[in-house]
Amino acid sequence: MGKVALITGITGQDGAYLSRLLLDKGYTVHGTFRRTASSLNLWRMDELGIRDQVDYLPLEMTEFANIMRVVDRIQPDEIYNLAAQSFVHDSFEQPLYTSTVNGMAVVYFLEVIREQCPGVRLYQASSSELFGKAVATPQTETTPFYPRSPYAVAKLFAHWMVVNYREAYGLHASAGILFNHESPLRGLGFVTRKITAGLARIRLGRQEALELGNLEARRDWGYAGDFVEGIWRMVQQERPGDYVLATGRTHSVRELVTLAAACAGFDLAWEGDGVATRGIDRASGRTLVRINPALFRPTEVGEMTGDARLARAILGWTPRVTFEELVESMVKADLDRAGRGEIVN
Ligand code: NAP
Ligand code: GDD
Repeated sequence: MGKVALITGITGQDGAYLSRLLLDKGYTVHGTFRRTASSLNLWRMDELGIRDQVDYLPLEMTEFANIMRVVDRIQPDEIYNLAAQSFVHDSFEQPLYTSTVNGMAVVYFLEVIREQCPGVRLYQASSSELFGKAVATPQTETTPFYPRSPYAVAKLFAHWMVVNYREAYGLHASAGILFNHESPLRGLGFVTRKITAGLARIRLGRQEALELGNLEARRDWGYAGDFVEGIWRMVQQERPGDYVLATGRTHSVRELVTLAAACAGFDLAWEGDGVATRGIDRASGRTLVRINPALFRPTEVGEMTGDARLARAILGWTPRVTFEELVESMVKADLDRAGRGEIVN
């Protein structure tokens, strides 16, 4: 019989790609969502054509007993904890909620596993944000952490809890220190998709311009479809552990916009400095990109470049999709959506 997986955060980007991967491997997949709206938004599952192949359960991460009952009912072999308040910028405004969902809720899961089902394998979604004001580049599993947002501090708490429960109680709990991973299914609040969706709408006359924050921020951006393969491989190891997943290549937001603009058929020229910077379409002279200071963060992380050599050596994992292929696929998907008049978020 195939394995049973419980995925929290099934409505998110990684939940969708991980579901598809596990279904392809013959798993029974149960996915949890939170009841924030009157209807369940499964647009990502629809795009992957797997909506009807997953069992959906309501789960609020801030409710300990809810977690206990869901785990008891599903009796999973593997739990993938992907649910989180995942917007770093918003975490500065919602530090308490973020701490509960991204930090405390992970201890709820660990306690439930320890008490009810110590043989279950757990994956915890840690983040490159743990490195924050990075003390070394590139970052590996042994680079010291220096979180720079309530999001990252909460994720760091959860990360060390996972390590502690593994060492104290022998739980099969692994944490993936994942660098940014994107896709056409990325949420509109993240900079990659905000850019590709914005430029597609501008191209089709549905939006006037794109407002961005820090253009000089640098990230190691990979493809989510590649990263969920690494997540699964971590959980299949005989011994649990922590692994960095990254491409090892870093680009600035400015470079991302320039490339995405080219994919959308614009030849972008940059003018001005700081908050007066503007991205101009050379052909029409129109301003396509301007800066909104409200989009800057109170604290930023340093240059994020991951070194995934451990994952390559132990898990046999390497990312396949390049940054250029990723951006092109995202722009294409958003041009298609904008062409159909679809708003997908
Ligand atoms: P995402 O698209 O934002 O999905 C987050 C999921 O968490 C959504 O399903 C969301 O539900 C759910 N959620 C949020 N608050 C909840 C709550 N209180 N109770 C129950 N569910 C809740 O994020 P993602 O990109 O798939 O990332 C998955 C995980 O990996 C997250 O933990 C994220 O922090 C972490 N991570 C992501 C990246 C990346 O680059 N993508 C990198 C490192 C780590 P709604 O749909 O209702 O909002
Ligand atoms: N969101 C956003 N919106 N970011 C902007 C904007 C904008 O208009 N303009 C510039 N940026 C910059 C941010 O300042 C940040 O430095 C960078 O773009 C990336 O921002 P996000 O796409 O929001 O991602 P993130 O790196 O903060 O967080 C994502 O990756 C983490 C892994 O490193 C999220 O998925 C986190 O959940 C994840 O842990």
